[in-house]
Amino acid sequence: MRKRVAVLPGDGIGPEVTEAAVKVLKVIERRFKHTFDIEYGAIGGAAIDKHNNPLPDETIELCQGSDAILLGAVGGPKWNGNEAALRPEKGLLAIRKHFDLFANIRPVIAVQSLLQASPLKQEVIENVDLMIVRELTGGLYFGEPSKRTENAAFDTLVYTRNEIERIVEKGFELARLRKGKLTSVDKENVLQTSKLWREIVEEKKAGYPDVEVEHMLVDSAAMQLVTNPSAFDVIVTENMFGDILSDEASVITGSLGVLPSASIRSDGFGLYEPIHGSAPQIAGQGKANPAAAILSVAMLLKYSFGLEEEASAIEEAINVVFRDGFYTADLASPIDRVLSTNDWTDKVVDELDLQSVSNDIMFTYN
Ligand code: IPM
Ligand code: MN
Repeated sequence: MRKRVAVLPGDGIGPEVTEAAVKVLKVIERRFKHTFDIEYGAIGGAAIDKHNNPLPDETIELCQGSDAILLGAVGGPKWNGNEAALRPEKGLLAIRKHFDLFANIRPVIAVQSLLQASPLKQEVIENVDLMIVRELTGGLYFGEPSKRTENAAFDTLVYTRNEIERIVEKGFELARLRKGKLTSVDKENVLQTSKLWREIVEEKKAGYPDVEVEHMLVDSAAMQLVTNPSAFDVIVTENMFGDILSDEASVITGSLGVLPSASIRSDGFGLYEPIHGSAPQIAGQGKANPAAAILSVAMLLKYSFGLEEEASAIEEAINVVFRDGFYTADLASPIDRVLSTNDWTDKVVDELDLQSVSNDIMFTYN
C-alpha cells in the first residue's frame, strides 16, 4: 500500500513525540512492505512564529494532498498573551473545522501493567475498556457570537439536528462493533441543545436494536467515570463535555501520556493526535511519553488505511514494553528505571522487530 501522511509536529513536546511515532511508522512500512510518503507542515505556535498564522495555507494544502494527518500538540506560554486569532489552539480548532473532522474517538483501556500508576483503586479500573466519542466541530467551541466586551463575555452553544445526528450515528456504529452499549451524555435538565440531543438519540435507537442505550447527565457521568468506569462501553457526547470527560478518563490509565485519539470525517479521512497537550515544562528534555503519539499511528493505520494487523502489532509491542517494566517518567514508580523518550521508543521498535522474527520462525515450522 502506498499512502501520503502529513506530519504536523506543533509545539512543546509535539516534535519529540511525533518523531517517535514516525520512527515506528517507518518500522511498520519496512516490515509490512508499504510505502508511506511523509511530509512535514507547520501548525500552532511554530506556525505563528514562521508564518504569523497558526494554520498557514501551505499546511492546509499539504493535508489536502495527504491520505491522513499525524499531529503532535499545540500551545505554550510564549503565545499565551496573543490575541485569539493568533493563539496556537486556533490552528488545531481551524484544522478540525476545515476538514470537517466531526468525530473524535478517544479509547481508554486499562493496561494491567499500568494499574499501579493510576491514583484510582486497582479493583475499580482493572476491566476498563471504554471509548469516548466526542463531537468535535460544533458546540461552544465554534458557536457565534463569541466575543468579549469590557464587562461581559459571550460564547454560544448551538447544535443543529444534522450535527447531532451524524455523531450519534457514529456512536451507535462503534458500540455495535464493541460491547453493544451506548451512554449518551448530556445536560438535559438544563440545556436546550441537550434536549434536542436526547430526542435524537431516542429517534436513532430504533435503527440499532442490538445496542443498549442509556442517557446520563454530564455531572453524574463525571462521577461514574471514576467510581464505576468499567460499566461504560461507548460514551457519545458534545464537544465541551467530551473534552472534559476525556481528560478525566485519562486518570484510569495512569497518565495522559498513553491516550491516543482519532478525529475523522465520514469518508474515513482523519487526523490523529495524542490527547495530551504540548507540556512546555518538559519539552526538549527527553521526558515525554511517546506512547500516545505511537498509539495514534496505530489508530491512523486502522481507521484511515484499514491496516488492522499493523495497528495490532504496534499495540501489542507497546503492551509488551510496559509489561517488561519499561516506563517514561510520567508512569514510573520510584523503584522503576526511567527511560527517555528515545530509549523507550527504541524498546517498542525492538519489540516490533522481535515480533517479525518470531512470525518468520512460526512460518518456517508450519
Ligand atoms: C483537546 C485539547 C484541545 C481542545 C485544545 C488544545 C484546543 O484540549 O484536544 O482535547 O480543547 O479540544
Ligand atoms: Mn482537551
